[in-house]
Amino acid sequence: MRFLRSRFLQAVIVLVVAFCVFRFGIRPPAPWSVIKLYMAVVALAVLVHISSDSDSWRDFLRPIRDTLTRPERRFVRAVLVVLIPVLLGYYAYSVAAARPEAPPQLRAIHPAPPPSLSFRGKEMNLQGLENPLRKDQASLARHAAAGGAIYIQNCFYCHGDNLDGKGHFAPAFNPPPANFEDPGTIAQLPEAYLFWRIAKGGPGLPRESTPWDSAMPAWEDRLTEEQIWQVIVYVYEATGQRPRRWQEH
Ligand code: HEC
Repeated sequence: MRFLRSRFLQAVIVLVVAFCVFRFGIRPPAPWSVIKLYMAVVALAVLVHISSDSDSWRDFLRPIRDTLTRPERRFVRAVLVVLIPVLLGYYAYSVAAARPEAPPQLRAIHPAPPPSLSFRGKEMNLQGLENPLRKDQASLARHAAAGGAIYIQNCFYCHGDNLDGKGHFAPAFNPPPANFEDPGTIAQLPEAYLFWRIAKGGPGLPRESTPWDSAMPAWEDRLTEEQIWQVIVYVYEATGQRPRRWQEH
């Protein structure tokens, strides 16, 4: 075991063991930047230890000097002279080489609605379409109440009972359910836009609103046209937001 007394070998063993511990021994695995940092600290500590007295420092340098100067180490020298530049060159290449990357895609939260949609086979022109329930102001309160019931039956799991997008399913979804209290959602949108989104849901979104699949269900088959207009009345009533008018565009 005499060779274990060699300072050089000791230093190498400490570095290798430290690397293995950082790379494989830590759960969850540490990122490379952290491993590099730890290894730098360990290398520094090893150098300080080795150079603490001149005997040990000479001991450490001896195998290096031997390899560089002794005639019988010529073969090792030749291998190192080839191997080190090749490894460095490969490292430089692997850092600089361009990798194929998927093009970045930004998700449009409010994509342009289609000009018209077919709701249960009936063509509806969305452009300029108003909520028909608002024509009869007298029964608006009744529609809002009906909309509230529809909301509690179908929507609050995701959009929350405070309409703030914090329903109990919400944490599971990316993108998260829309927060209707936020001035950036329904307050910016005409009611016909909501009609389209509620009827067609996530599956009806155009491509620019992917890459994450929206969990918003399509309600076309479960709610009637009137029920959708009612729940729309409700979400504006309950949040105190006002729908955007078409002419404000
Ligand atoms: C399974 C969860 C879930 C349910 C249930 C749900 N939604 Fe959604 N909803 C979402 C998610 C997620 C989004 C955000 C992604 C998107 O825009 O599609 C969303 C978006 C919306 C939007 C678009 C808002 C905007 O700013 O563009 C409206 C309107 C909407 N929901 C209304 C409703 C109504 C009304 C109901 C009930 C009839 C309902 N949602 C039920 C998950 C849900």
